[in-house]
Amino acid sequence: MWEQNSCINCHTLHGEGAYFAPELSNVWTRWGGQEDPATARETLKGWMASQPSGIEGRRQMPQFNLTEQQLDDLGDFLEWASKIKTQKWPPNDAG
Ligand code: HEC
Repeated sequence: MWEQNSCINCHTLHGEGAYFAPELSNVWTRWGGQEDPATARETLKGWMASQPSGIEGRRQMPQFNLTEQQLDDLGDFLEWASKIKTQKWPPNDAG
């Protein structure tokens, strides 16, 4: 999911990638996935469904039209990424 859709053209994952959009290795943690994975998964689905936001002055993310299975795979990937030991990197929540 990550590579096929070139998420890295805008985002970083553990610091690798482009700096147009937020770091995503910790988005699962920021959305409370460690305590409540089901809610983090729904938040991810809601986010992906609502892009682009169309809010003026805000950077836009494309609509990827992912299937339910692909969204679940993406959730698995972001959950996995959030559990990699990175010696406390990134240093702050915003990444
Ligand atoms: C063309 C650039 C672009 C691409 C490609 C892109 N995104 Fe984004 N993404 C953004 C921008 C810009 C934001 C921030 C939007 C905002 O805050 O309104 C964002 C925000 C997000 C967020 C919320 C992050 C947070 O901290 O709130 C998630 C999750 C996300 N993207 C996932 C993905 C995934 C998964 C892919 C690949 C399938 C992807 N993005 C591809 C531009 C992109």
